[in-house]
Amino acid sequence: MHARKSTGIPDVDEMIEGGFREGSINMVDGDAGTGKSTFAVQFMMAGLAAGESAIYMSVEESKESFYTNMLRFGFNLEEYEKAGTLFFYEANAAQLKEFLDKGGIGIEDRIMQMKPQRFVLDSISAFALLYETGMKQRTAVQRFIEKLKAWNLTTLLISEATQDYTRFGLEFLVDGVVKLWYRKVGHERVRTIEIMKMRGTKHKIAETVYRIEENGIVLYPSETIF
Ligand SMILES: Nc1ncnc2c1ncn2[C@@H]1O[C@H](COP(=O)(O)OP(=O)(O)OP(=O)(O)O)[C@@H](O)[C@H]1O
Ligand SMILES: [Mg+2]
Repeated sequence: MHARKSTGIPDVDEMIEGGFREGSINMVDGDAGTGKSTFAVQFMMAGLAAGESAIYMSVEESKESFYTNMLRFGFNLEEYEKAGTLFFYEANAAQLKEFLDKGGIGIEDRIMQMKPQRFVLDSISAFALLYETGMKQRTAVQRFIEKLKAWNLTTLLISEATQDYTRFGLEFLVDGVVKLWYRKVGHERVRTIEIMKMRGTKHKIAETVYRIEENGIVLYPSETIF
């Protein structure tokens, strides 16, 4: 049996035997505005609240905007940063590529010092586009994943659904894939979450309705859409 890390969303934990496997690399994939960053922060907060530490690497959104948006859900990231258990790392895609090409990701010292349990990359899409070929993307991402595994970081990589990942097969490299859908049902839009894969885990396969509410993502397992 593997130790599990809570996703911070009780009904999601329920779908995957209690959470992500400790040290596993997982991907959350969805269209714009589906709640990917919110999911990632809930995952991170579950650790922080339990006394763990975490690194949030943001390529998409500035720290200021991010902290303000997450405060709306009641997640006070600044508080954890001040306490030294959260490191919010703002990097643009080019910087990240440079780090990766040099064989490091630029935060090794910080990782050694903090010994974080959780890691989020928001998102992997931008930097993947900086490589000319699918093969180069795959090699870079593979090396990145190996590093995260070596540090035993339970990881969430955010990916943007509009990118064509089949080009370098990110979903094949990671241990778990969670999809966030924004479905048109009749005249309405419904958000659903689906566990596409979760290595070594007996997981639910049906899509489950969720909503983004005052405190973040909330699932409605009893609602059906089809
Ligand atoms: N207080 C709130 N109550 C309900 N829904 C909210 C609230 N705040 C934000 N939302 C919803 O959450 C969405 C943004 O969530 P989030 O930033 O996690 O999505 P994302 O998938 O990371 O977006 P992006 O693709 O832009 O990075 C908004 O588009 C909005 O629909
Ligand atoms: Mg986001």
